This record gives sequence, C-alpha cells and structure tokens, in this order.
Amino acid sequence: MADFSLPQGSYFLGFDSSTQSLKATVLDSNFNIVASELVHFDTDLPHYKTKDGIYRDPSINGRIVSPTLMWVEALDLMLNKLSNSNVDFGKITAISGSGQQHGSVYWKNGSSSILSSLDPKKQLVEQLCDAFSIGESPIWMDSSTTSECREIEKAVGGPLELSQITGSRAYERFTGPQIKKLFQTQPEVYQNTERISLVSSFMASLLIGAYACIDETDGAGMNLMDIRQRAWSTNVLEATAPGLDSKLGKLAPAHAVAGLIAPYFVHRFHFNKNCLIIQWSGDNPNSLAGLTLNTPGDLAISLGTSDTVFGITHDPQPGLEGHVFPNPVDTKGYMVMLCYKNGSLTREDVRNRYAEKSWDKFNTFLQQTSPLNGGKIGFYYKEHEILPPLPVGFHHYILENFTGDKLEGVVESEVLEFDPPSEVRALIEGQFLSMRAHAERFGMPSPPKRIIATGGASANHSILSSIASIFGCNVYTVQRPDSASLGGALRAAHGWLCSNNGSFVPISCMYKDKLEKTSLSCKLSATAGDQQLVSKYGVLMKKRTEIENRLVEKLGRC
Ligand code: ADP
Ligand code: XUL
Repeated sequence: MADFSLPQGSYFLGFDSSTQSLKATVLDSNFNIVASELVHFDTDLPHYKTKDGIYRDPSINGRIVSPTLMWVEALDLMLNKLSNSNVDFGKITAISGSGQQHGSVYWKNGSSSILSSLDPKKQLVEQLCDAFSIGESPIWMDSSTTSECREIEKAVGGPLELSQITGSRAYERFTGPQIKKLFQTQPEVYQNTERISLVSSFMASLLIGAYACIDETDGAGMNLMDIRQRAWSTNVLEATAPGLDSKLGKLAPAHAVAGLIAPYFVHRFHFNKNCLIIQWSGDNPNSLAGLTLNTPGDLAISLGTSDTVFGITHDPQPGLEGHVFPNPVDTKGYMVMLCYKNGSLTREDVRNRYAEKSWDKFNTFLQQTSPLNGGKIGFYYKEHEILPPLPVGFHHYILENFTGDKLEGVVESEVLEFDPPSEVRALIEGQFLSMRAHAERFGMPSPPKRIIATGGASANHSILSSIASIFGCNVYTVQRPDSASLGGALRAAHGWLCSNNGSFVPISCMYKDKLEKTSLSCKLSATAGDQQLVSKYGVLMKKRTEIENRLVEKLGRC
C-alpha cells in the first residue's frame, strides 16, 4: 500500500499575502502550528504610506492599487521575523501560499535575469526596485475598468457566454480587464512588460528565483481561462490584448511543484536546498483548503477585508452572478464563490461612527437590539460594491407594521439615519441577509448543513451569532482566524506528497485520522436557534432584495 505519511520532523510553511498584511503559518508533520507571524503593511512598513495596505487614487475614479515593492519588502521582513522567532528553516520541506486574488504584477523586460541572480548579501527589495514596468499593482478593490469589462463581454458574445467559458462574467477587479486597460491606456508600458504575474504567482516567483506559473485556481479569477479545459482561452485572450499568451506563461495545477527554493534563500536564511515551492494560489481557494472544506452542503464565510462565501461542487453552473474556480485540492472539483467588497473596512467605519471605535461597544449594541431590528434595514457601501454593483453611499429604510410574518400591509419609508445601536444591527443584518439572498440565488445549499467562518472578524462572537440566526444553521470556527496561510501550509504538505508520490494524491489521504486531533479541528461557535426567527429573516430578506433591486435600477451600472 502507498505510504502517504509526511517526513517526521519536517515543517511546512504557508504564507498569505493579503490586502492589509503578509501572514505566515508553520505546521509540523502532524499539522500542529509551530509558529505564526504577521507583517502589517501600514504599521510595519510605514514608509510606503498605505492606508489599509492600499492607495486610493483621487484622480481616477475607482482606481485602487498597492505598491508592488511593499509586498517584496514584506517578505524580507517576514523571513527576518520568523528567523528571530527561532524557526529552523532547515526543517522546512515545502512552502506554498496565498495571494489576494486578481491583483497583478508587471515585470519589466529583462527582469528574469535579476530574479535568477539574486545576491544573498542584499535584501530582495534593494535588488528588485527596478524590476517592474509599473510600480503600483492594481488590486481586487479596483473598480476602474467598467468599459473594458463590457468590451470583453461583447467580443465573446455576451456576459453569460464569458461566464460559461471563464467561470465569471467580466468584473472590474479581474485581471483580464485590468490588463486590457493597461494595454489601451499605456501601450508602451504593456510592450515593456515581459511577464504578468498574479500576487500568488509573483510571490512564488520570488521564492524560486524565476517566473512561476499561474495556478489554475487563481487563474480562474482573471476572466482569461477556460475553466473546463484549465487552459487560456484563445478567444478571450484575443479580446483582451495582443501577445498576451507569452506574457502570461503557462498554467499549472495548484498541487504542482513551482520549483526548488532559490539559492538566495539557502545562503541568506539557511533553507534546505531541496525545499519545494508548491504553486501559490488565491486566498479564497487556500481558505477552502485551510478549512478542510470537503462536503457539498457546507458553506464557508470568510470575513477579511472582503467578505466571501464559498462552497464546493462537482457540477458548476456559471451564471451572471458569482464565480466558479477549480478546487485547489481536487483536480476534478470546483469551488463556487460570492465576493463583497464592503466587508471589514465597512464594519470598522460603522463601528467608528456609531460605536466609539470599539468592538466591545459594537457588540453591546448588537446584543441590546432585537433580531429584525424593528423593521430597520440598512445598505452600507463605503466602497463601490461588487454584489450588487452599487456606488458608495448609505441607505436607510424603516418598515412600518413589520412583524416578519408577511409583507402585506408593510409600509416602507426612507430615513437619513437610525439611533447608533440600530445602525450597528442594520449593518450586520444587512450584510448577512444579502449574503443569504445571493447564496440562495446562486444555488448554494439553503439552509447550509453548517457554516465555517474564518478571517479577522470571525473572532467576533456577536457577529457569528447573528450569522447563525440569519442562515439558520450552526456556525463553526477553526482555532485560528487565518485559514488562508494555514491553507498555504497544508497545500505545501499536499504538494510535497503529490510530488513524492509522482502523481496527484487526494488530500484526504494526507489527513487520515489526524484532523480531529490538531489545530485544524472545527469548534462550534454559534448555534442555529429559533427556526421561527429564521423564517422571519426570510421575509425580511425578500423585502431587502426588493429594495436592493430598485437601488440597482436607480444607481447601478448594469
Ligand atoms: P485580510 O486577510 O483581507 O487582510 P484579515 O482576515 O486579516 O484581512 O482581517 C482583518 C480585519 O479583521 C480588520 O480589518 C478588522 O476590521 C477585522 N477584525 C479584527 N478583529 C475583529 C473583531 N473583534 N470584530 C470584528 N472585526 C474584527
Ligand atoms: C475575491 C476577491 C477578494 C480578494 C481579497 O474574488 O476579490 O476576496 O481575494 O483578498
């Protein structure tokens, strides 16, 4: 029988290069966490002057970018931090990681030789300062490419056709529309670019000292890949920019080896020269791996800078809403996902305005107010929203005579503001009613068998209780809220196993009976409770969707 055990005494390192920080998790071969570290961009690298890890361009509507070099310097700093916390790099057998999805990096002509000859006496940031054809990478929060989206959709026969090929209609943050905009507005910069990486393949490239492939899972977040063939779609490539094929390089499965660790890291940090770098992937796909999500009825909710909801399926039906990506740990399966831009930063904004900048006060308000909020409904868009596509703005409505039993006789009026406790409840109920409504519409299980929550805000029990009441199912969390870097470490181990075996090995073989005993086990954090309340939330959700549709008609751009 094949031996699927991991080498005893070895470590697996997972990173998460996200919007606000770079995180790292080190696992031992029994999946216990032996170290974790964080580099917070705003505070640990203040010279880049980012706010929440990003720049908002005041001169171009919707343009949101991050300095590419900041991500490089974050890796320098992270490796120093891990080394100072006595992680024995020599024991690390494989490394993988997550990148915020869709963000892109543009390597200047000639940069592959810089990458392949890194000097171990110098920091990465010193050596790569001239390696990029644009210094500011467009990221997932950008919404400046609406016209490019419509052009690409039109060229391939419409939004549904594009979705059926690539898993999503065109979205502003997706990499294809971003590349098209670069080609159309700065053709000389496009010509001066020899390689385009995603944040995920960019970080993998640093570690192997050469251009890493884009993995098939994160590649599906570009509006460029045929999700069934798992290959670039020639039609869509042509609709995007000329000569794109060679700038993108090849695709690789998420479990593949990207390369051996570059000599730079062996000499500077004493990594083992045989340490494998497994393909990096997107943060949401890695969270799916980190949460060990393997049952179709389970839903995961990630509450990071963005809020996402995702699950797995073998029969994806890409449509006009939501996204389909290949499953990073199952070569035949897919993941389905919805993404909201107004996640943690909007909750912080409402907390700062109404709850004295304190999560404790925010939670007290949530506990003080009754479910259904006496018919007060809010829509809070601090950022231009993706789902539904609505501009920045807050909208408040009061439903008179609302009991939650029926909508007949309910009268709705728009108001300017609520009292502070009601604002907090309207925000949380609004965010998760929207999630329930869109998840149902996308064909996700309703009610889910269970929800597994992750991301920064999953540390908040009051928020988790509201989720359980609204969705009508139990909510679980894993020991650590950072499933993306944990998923990176697990995928590092999985990739090593596949490589050692000479072909793909189902990830379940790696876990055997280990899951329940380790930091990966889920714990119940909030219970479903009152079914009557769940159905009342269903009625409120219907009303909220009606108002949302009207707002989209009035203010949306589709
Ligand atoms: P990302 O990986 O997208 O950079 P994280 O998953 O690290 O983001 O989440 C960061 C967010 O977590 C912060 O913006 C913060 O608002 C949120 N957060 C942290 N603690 C709490 C809490 N107790 N309640 C609600 N939100 C929280
Ligand atoms: C997913 C998305 C966000 C980013 C955040 O489509 O845009 O969740 O991945 O890092």
